[in-house]
Amino acid sequence: MLTNDQLSSWDRENFFHPSTHLAAHARGETSSRIIKGGEGVFIEDRDGKRFLDAFAGLYCVNVGYGRQEIAEAIADQARELAYYHAYVGHGTEASITLSKMVMDRAPAGMSKVYFGLSGSDANETNIKLIWYYNNILGRPEKKKIISRWRGYHGSGLMTGSLTGLGVFHKKFDLPLTQVIHTDAPYYFRRPDRTMSEAQFTAHLVAELEALIEREGADTIAAFIGEPVLGTGGLVPPPAGYWDAVQEVLAKHDILLVADEVVTGFGRLGTMMGSDHYGMRPDIITIAKGLTSAYAPLSGSIIGDKVWQVLMQGTDENGPLGHGWTYSAHPIGAAAGIANLELIDRLGLVKNAGEVGSYFRAALIDRIGNHPMVGDIRGEGMLAAVEFADRDTGKLFDPNDKVGARVVGALLAEGVIARAMPEGDIAGFAPPLCLTTQEADQIVDAMGKAVTETLG
Ligand SMILES: Cc1ncc(COP(=O)(O)O)c(C=O)c1O
Repeated sequence: MLTNDQLSSWDRENFFHPSTHLAAHARGETSSRIIKGGEGVFIEDRDGKRFLDAFAGLYCVNVGYGRQEIAEAIADQARELAYYHAYVGHGTEASITLSKMVMDRAPAGMSKVYFGLSGSDANETNIKLIWYYNNILGRPEKKKIISRWRGYHGSGLMTGSLTGLGVFHKKFDLPLTQVIHTDAPYYFRRPDRTMSEAQFTAHLVAELEALIEREGADTIAAFIGEPVLGTGGLVPPPAGYWDAVQEVLAKHDILLVADEVVTGFGRLGTMMGSDHYGMRPDIITIAKGLTSAYAPLSGSIIGDKVWQVLMQGTDENGPLGHGWTYSAHPIGAAAGIANLELIDRLGLVKNAGEVGSYFRAALIDRIGNHPMVGDIRGEGMLAAVEFADRDTGKLFDPNDKVGARVVGALLAEGVIARAMPEGDIAGFAPPLCLTTQEADQIVDAMGKAVTETLG
């Protein structure tokens, strides 16, 4: 068997890691933790250390680790038919069955699902389809996409542009010009602390209206948003936000894309985040929770209105020139079927809502009064602790790395959280199967980590 030292040295010599400080890693200044196995909400590294993974990988292992049902489904599919493509109307029993299961779980008004491999490629698909849609409708100028600062929609050229976080733009010549950003619905960081949620929503909507006015509604094709801001800080929207935004979009004939890569399939305690907030999107992006990351698979769920125009487009222009070799990969589809069945059988959507609320309440109880805890928020099985002055909301100097230090101390207590990229924010997105005892374990470790780091 290979030793850890051998693997670490191969790692530093050969492996180009995503979202990593490349030079520090190559020099050996960062840890190269090698993960070996997992069971339920726990993972184990090759040193035999066990961690409670309170971020479910990258909020994707929703059913938890080590689910043999999914492993078996993948193995059976690989033995029977590892691959066939989905071009020119081809399908497999797995891909067709999964398309039916996804559409059965989609909100009203949706028509078909296109399968990709990652959240990023699904959002690239969405933007291409939106441009195609407006070309077919004879509106070649209506192409810009509104996204939000702090939104996260992927790392591609277009999706990296949609993403509203500086680190994904800097030195990459992004965002591309077709993307315009509007303010984040981030109540804790509202411009004026005296604003109520309703007033803040009205402020955001006025900003959006002004942006549309400035750019011209006839140049704007779509608005993309996560039901709850994810990587940008795990921020639920202020009261009335989605209703008000949808009213504006409808007035200007702007499509709505709900990016449900994180919220799809149960994370908010409802099957889809759109259901949770009464959103009526034209397109929904899905990925992570579709297979709980047991195999890569994503999807673009297309609403009736867009679908009708896409069909018209192919009648006029011939087959759609868009596809990936691995679209609807049978192994991903088999994983998706087994995963969605498991979510139903174990009642994980309901559990996410119930245990998620318990978890947040316990966090508030344990550390809510700490003078350096500014905000504890979340929805369903998502929670964030933002470090800031409790009384004034004043943020700390980023150089002090308060959030990252607490998350580091938490790791030493055996719990993995994520230091969110912009701000002093400890993020939690445990597997949806979390129990109240496991929630207590996270809260207990967090209490210790906060005391140890901040006093
Ligand atoms: C909301 C959202 N959209 C898109 C993506 C991109 O997905 P992927 O990393 O699979 O490309 C992510 C990834 O975290 C996400 O959170």
